[in-house]
Amino acid sequence: MYTFSVVKKMDSFASGFARVDTTGDAHSFVQYLDLVHSLPFFQECKTLSYERLALTPGDSVLEIGCGNGVDTKNLAGIVGASGNTVGIDISATMLDAARDNAKNSVSSPEFMLCDGHHLAFPDDTFNGVRADRVIQHTRDPFAVIKEITRVTKPSGTVVIFEPDWGTFSLWPSEREVSRSILNFWCDSIPSGWVGRSVYAAYGNAGLTEICVEPKTLIITDLTIARKIFDLDTTFTHAVQEGIVSQEAVTQWEEALVQADHHMQFFSSLTFFLVTGIKS
Ligand SMILES: C[S@@+](CC[C@H](N)C(=O)[O-])C[C@H]1O[C@@H](n2cnc3c(N)ncnc32)[C@H](O)[C@@H]1O
Repeated sequence: MYTFSVVKKMDSFASGFARVDTTGDAHSFVQYLDLVHSLPFFQECKTLSYERLALTPGDSVLEIGCGNGVDTKNLAGIVGASGNTVGIDISATMLDAARDNAKNSVSSPEFMLCDGHHLAFPDDTFNGVRADRVIQHTRDPFAVIKEITRVTKPSGTVVIFEPDWGTFSLWPSEREVSRSILNFWCDSIPSGWVGRSVYAAYGNAGLTEICVEPKTLIITDLTIARKIFDLDTTFTHAVQEGIVSQEAVTQWEEALVQADHHMQFFSSLTFFLVTGIKS
């Protein structure tokens, strides 16, 4: 029978993205982003988020938490050589990967080490600012969104794509064990409920014409779900921290594997693509 593999990295992808460089295995976080980027769901949401920014050649654009730089490179392609593209991230490892990915790009983006809570740019600098699955890893989403709005030019656009981990579901589920583990996972993320709060944070920052588009990721292949949702690490940590017993986890793992075998495994997570205009 298939069993869940032993976890090698110390941090889960839930908690570790807030401090990639000190996790002890920063490269596994870079590889994780490569996996995410390979899934059609994320590719479609990313393309839609570029459209929502409504950039034109010559514009300036900022990517918050740029990770491995793939989106920053794509945005640089949209604003062209006459435009200005900057990617910031709190991780030096991510920025190294980003510079490597963008080295042959025609309109070279700039990459900077910077915390989204304190952006090193003057007021009213960018025509567009984008963040993709980043604000969930910050301790104060309202402050970050206010900072993002500060550096956006009047009439400029802010686009944020964030999950709400309170919507995370797995089937089959023993209800109490499932609730305990999924709440544990959600609470391991600095701002696990960020998805539902972005609308309010936009209003608080003074953004207008706010548009919220829900996007639900559905994964029915347990092998992919294990990687995307980091199930091994989550289950291991939940047992280590006394959230659930090893026996309960083992039973649930077996049920998940059996369901997958019969093509009945199901998992889902809802993200929110939120667009707003600085007045
Ligand atoms: C899940 S990854 C997403 C990366 C990229 N946006 C993408 O779509 O692939 C989260 C990224 O946010 C960065 N990050 C986390 N906290 C941050 C903060 N306070 N300021 C800036 N970047 C941060 C991480 O280092 C990581 O690169």
